[in-house]
Amino acid sequence: TNVTFLINKSEITAGTRGASLGPDAIITAARKKESYLFGENTLEKTTNSNGYLDKPTKYPFAKRIDGLLSVYQELNSKVAEILNKNSFPIILAADHGSAGGTISGIKSAFPDKRIGAVWIDAHADIHTPYTTPSGNMHGMPLASVMDVDNIECKINDVDAETAALWNQLKNVGGVSQKVKPEDVVYVAVRDTEEQEEFVINKFGIKWFSVNDVRTLGVAKIVEGINDQLKNCDIVYVTFDVDSMDPDMTSHGTGTPVPNGISPEEAKDLMNALAANSKTVCMEIVEVNPCLDEKENTMAEVTLDIVETITNTIRNR
Ligand code: ARG
Ligand code: MN
Ligand code: MN
Ligand code: MN
Repeated sequence: TNVTFLINKSEITAGTRGASLGPDAIITAARKKESYLFGENTLEKTTNSNGYLDKPTKYPFAKRIDGLLSVYQELNSKVAEILNKNSFPIILAADHGSAGGTISGIKSAFPDKRIGAVWIDAHADIHTPYTTPSGNMHGMPLASVMDVDNIECKINDVDAETAALWNQLKNVGGVSQKVKPEDVVYVAVRDTEEQEEFVINKFGIKWFSVNDVRTLGVAKIVEGINDQLKNCDIVYVTFDVDSMDPDMTSHGTGTPVPNGISPEEAKDLMNALAANSKTVCMEIVEVNPCLDEKENTMAEVTLDIVETITNTIRNR
C-alpha cells in the first residue's frame, strides 16, 4: 500500500505553544539520521492556521473554534482525496484538536462503512464546550465525531454563537455521528475529568489501561481491540505521544502525564495496528520540540514509530 504523509501544523487548539514545530522536528530527525522516509513517500500539507493565535479568541469555552472549523473542512477534503486515490494517509499533526477533521475525511471517503477508532492517549479528549475545564479544543476531538454533547454534566454557560459553531464542526462531512461509542477503544488513558468519566461510563467505552498493556502484553491488547471492533469495516488509529511515559521520553509534549506506556510498547502496538488490513489511516500528534528536556528527543522517539508503521503499511 502506498503511503501519503499529510502534515498539519495547526496548533490552535492546544494550551501550550510549540506543537506546530512537531512535524518539522520529526522530518529534521529523519534527515539527521539520513533516513529518506519523507523523500520516498508522498508529502502533502494543510494551510497554516496558526495566525488565529495572534488575535484574541471570542470563544472562551471553545478557543479558536472558528479557525478549527476551517482546519476540519480542509482535512475532510484532503484525507478523503488521499483515501480515494487508494493511498494510506499518515497524518503528522501538531495538536490533537484536528483529529475530528481527519475522521470526517475518512467518513466522506467511505460514507457507508462503519468506522472504529483506536485512541492511544493519556487523555480521553471527549470534552465539549459544555464541559471543558480549559476551553482548549484538543480536549474535544472525539466528542466532535461521536455527537455526544454531555450536557447532563455541563459546567459552562455556552453562548449561542459557540453552540452554533460546535454544531457546524460536528457536521463537517455531512453526518454528525461518524463513530459510535461502542466502536471506540482507549489505550493508556489515565488523566480524565469527572465529566469525561460520566460519558465513558454512560456508554461503557472500552478502555485498556497502561497496566493492561504491561501485564497482558501488546499482542493480547491488539486481540482485545480487534474483538471490540469486529463489526467495524475500517479502523482509524490516533496516537497522542503523551500516551507514553514522560520519563521514558524527553517530556517533549504539551500535557505530559506520569506513568504511561513505554516507547517500545507504543511502537509494537502501532506496528500491530498498522499491519491490520482494516486500518485505513493513522495519525500522530502532540510532539512539541520546545519542551524537550533530554537528548533522545520526542521527535526522535516518534520518528522511530513512524518509520516502523510506514514500512509495515508499504508491505501490506
Ligand atoms: N482534559 C484536558 C483539557 O480538556 C487536557 C486535554 C489534553 N488533550 C490533548 N490532546 N493533549 O483541557
Ligand atoms: Mn493527550
Ligand atoms: Mn487532569
Ligand atoms: Mn489527545
